[in-house]
Amino acid sequence: MWPKDVGIKAIEVYFPAQYVEQTELEQFDGVSAGKYTIGLGQQRMGFCNDREDINSLCLTVVHRLMDKFEIKPQDIGRLEVGTETIIDKSKSVKTVLMQLFEPHGCTDIEGADTTNACYGGTAALLNAVSWVESSAWDGRLALVVAADNAVYSSGSARPTGGAGAIAMVVGPDAPLIIDRGVRSSCMKHAYDFYKPNLKSEYPVVDGQLSIQCYLNALDNCYQTFCKKVKKMHNYDVTLDNFDSFLFHSPYCKLVQKSFARLVFLDFLAMSKEKVLAEYPDLAKFHDVKPKDTYFNKEIEKAFINLSKTKFLQKTQPSLLISSQVGNMYTPSVYSGLASLLISKPIKELAGTKVGVFSYGSGFCSTMYSLTITKECKEKSDLMKIVSTLSCIKQELNARQKVSPADYTKVLDWREQNCHAVPFSPQSSISNMFPGTYYLVQVDEKYRRTYKTV
Ligand SMILES: CC(C)(COP(=O)(O)OP(=O)(O)OC[C@H]1O[C@@H](n2cnc3c(N)ncnc32)[C@H](O)[C@@H]1OP(=O)(O)O)[C@@H](O)C(=O)NCCC(=O)NCCS
Repeated sequence: MWPKDVGIKAIEVYFPAQYVEQTELEQFDGVSAGKYTIGLGQQRMGFCNDREDINSLCLTVVHRLMDKFEIKPQDIGRLEVGTETIIDKSKSVKTVLMQLFEPHGCTDIEGADTTNACYGGTAALLNAVSWVESSAWDGRLALVVAADNAVYSSGSARPTGGAGAIAMVVGPDAPLIIDRGVRSSCMKHAYDFYKPNLKSEYPVVDGQLSIQCYLNALDNCYQTFCKKVKKMHNYDVTLDNFDSFLFHSPYCKLVQKSFARLVFLDFLAMSKEKVLAEYPDLAKFHDVKPKDTYFNKEIEKAFINLSKTKFLQKTQPSLLISSQVGNMYTPSVYSGLASLLISKPIKELAGTKVGVFSYGSGFCSTMYSLTITKECKEKSDLMKIVSTLSCIKQELNARQKVSPADYTKVLDWREQNCHAVPFSPQSSISNMFPGTYYLVQVDEKYRRTYKTV
């Protein structure tokens, strides 16, 4: 017997307390005005100075979540971290987080780290769900952490950075239920974005190939998802089956293109008669092969126009954090969930269906769906999540703006000191949000110590 309604019971988001304005970065980089803000759809980019690393991001978000939702260390039976920010090739971030559990006598906690670019958080979440549904489940909750510091070397990819962390509690009777039954994946070997230089925080990126891989993964996941639903439940899935759709967001414009792409795939699945009757102007696109159209501007424009209203309803609300913080890598698609939950009155979201597309370069991708519970009374679990997340807008605005020149100095300094020991960070802690963990030092044996603000 499976436990009922396994899914997300609590969620907390953390992003660093400083950002760079994308309009200022456009000027600083000498690109044409609008390239990052309109062309990529990004407003601000959050980043870590030398006081924060992957361990501190995760410590902060887990501590905040347990505090706000009054979760005791004894309640957790599985803890897993999804990240691609690797500072140690052996010791997991999960074991660093055990500092929050061990002092309470809690060491019987399964799970370790999971890595594949921006997909690690989803892999960790699916593992947690599987654990709760398995014979090994002992009735306790699982804790999933997705966190990254996303930085690129100077050049065209740099404005698509970001940083942050998300923690989610997984268990039965959840208000955000991960639908059982149908989900689809597309996993392939590609060198679109990877981090072979372990001495550097920066990835090697083939930007155009990464877009092509992302869209190819999206096509495959959606088409497989539709086929599986047809086989299992005998109906045809279209975007109309989802009230909202969340995407991994490398930058917001790609998400809008991806939403339009799903409308395009629905169009390709229609009969010729229906296309001629309802979309005569688009009929010329009906016989194309999806794989030949990733960079077809005519098709892209036509379907962005066609899908505009639905995009504003189903996906735009999920892009708040992504547009303000940037690509946080593993947390990105879950920042979409948090943004969605604070974007509309909860009565409108209760009982609705949410599609989720998670992509990590290299590449791994999965599509699944969530159901938001109907239960949204004042003291319900859903209301608790929404009221806890409601501080996000205030925190986004409370961040400190840093000039592109100073942001560049921070990145140069991180680059020089990446793996340097002994190391003492220099950045001030005065602007950090209360409760944030910060790096105190890295000793000559590479051991890191942290304190909280
Ligand atoms: C995404 C990425 C390839 C873009 O870099 P780039 O090649 O320099 O950017 P482009 O020249 O294509 O410009 C980006 C967009 O801004 C548009 N643009 C350029 N200048 C503009 C301006 N002044 N006003 C409005 N739009 C502008 C371009 O037309 C382009 O739009 P399009 O994608 O609809 O064609 C790069 O940032 C990158 O590699 N990022 C990391 C990898 C990534 O995020 N991949 C995504 C999948 S995982």
